[in-house]
Amino acid sequence: MADKIVLAYSGGLDTSVACKWLQEERGYEVHCLTVDLGNLPDVDSARERGLSAGAVSVDLVDAKEDFLRYFVFPALGANVVYEGRYPLATALGRPLIAKLLVDKAREIGAVAVAHGCTGKGNDQVRLDVGVQTLAPDLTIVGTQRENQMSRDEALRYAAKHGIAVRQTAASLYSTDENLWGRSIEAGLLEDPWVSPPEDVYAWTRPLDRTPAQPVEVEIRFEKGVPVALDGERLDPVALVQRLSNLGGEHGIGRIDMVENRLVGIKSREIYEAPAAVILLDAHRALEELTLSKQQVRWKSLVGQEYADLIYNGLWFTSHHRDLSEYVQSTQRHVTGDARMRLWHGTVMTMGRRAERSLYSEELATYSDGDQFDQSHAQGFIKLHGLQAQVQAHRQLLQEHTDLLHLASGED
Ligand code: ARG
Repeated sequence: MADKIVLAYSGGLDTSVACKWLQEERGYEVHCLTVDLGNLPDVDSARERGLSAGAVSVDLVDAKEDFLRYFVFPALGANVVYEGRYPLATALGRPLIAKLLVDKAREIGAVAVAHGCTGKGNDQVRLDVGVQTLAPDLTIVGTQRENQMSRDEALRYAAKHGIAVRQTAASLYSTDENLWGRSIEAGLLEDPWVSPPEDVYAWTRPLDRTPAQPVEVEIRFEKGVPVALDGERLDPVALVQRLSNLGGEHGIGRIDMVENRLVGIKSREIYEAPAAVILLDAHRALEELTLSKQQVRWKSLVGQEYADLIYNGLWFTSHHRDLSEYVQSTQRHVTGDARMRLWHGTVMTMGRRAERSLYSEELATYSDGDQFDQSHAQGFIKLHGLQAQVQAHRQLLQEHTDLLHLASGED
């Protein structure tokens, strides 16, 4: 009897070819696993195509809610964005897919798992490391990495084996999507000077077709997790989908960047992530009220480390656990609302409030009722500047006489 393998299956050309190839070239009995993290185009035809490519079974797992609850929202708590901009939609989905592949392999007694990632990207790293850490005994086959079929070869292979192929506008590019965002690369986009053609975008309107009037949305967070829009409590999937549609309508969330991949390549990628962009801004606005100065500063360093860790596929690690414990702890009082205005591709915070806000109007005000005792300011500043003063007189003014010139504005 042939060994069983579980293939991460999207229903597209590459993984359909992979399905056939694993049987023909490697002799496996192939079981396809399609993981729905949101925006899966056509579930029924994916199943049909998998079976037509010779899979013994094609399973669909709806992992949308788990994806948001256990991967996206904890990352939102840390405000993670890679290299300052990418909200990590694709990267956040991979460890969950790895886990579900392993679960399925255990369930059916498979000896291996497979994916169709190329040998040049980050996704192979994330899936491989995920599987390796969860199930070191399983063999991992990267079909594309091993057969290195070009697109034309894949099309010929599909034709030869009677695998149906759908050509769509999106197939001019390499795309990946889930509830948190859409990633588009390759094709024309490989020249970083070329403007992305409008057909790259699927979720966001171009600015000349966004509504003339702005819209405001009030987002409620509890302990850093978004729970309601405009006073209506929503489950995670409904909340993110609604915000994604609303943001997309207003042209929010287009990101065009050249990023540094783990494998050493710079790559140009376009992202569409309306819900992510809005929620990240709203969450930060609420943290402005509820975290201390030190927490905000330290947390932003942790957030960068956290983003790198996710990007680099190290989800199932103790380092992740430690960072996440810290972040969770900072979210204890991040409960309240942010009111965001969406208009012509921009998100603006119009207001924020929190039950345990650290903001004190009595201290900040310049009007009557001021409780800040300004007579303390002078003494405070004297001590605050004491070291600088001593150092300037004993050292700096002695060695750099031009400092005096700088100070007096002379050349
Ligand atoms: N560069 C992004 C990442 O590494 C997205 C990768 C998948 N993109 C794609 N267009 N297939 O997370």
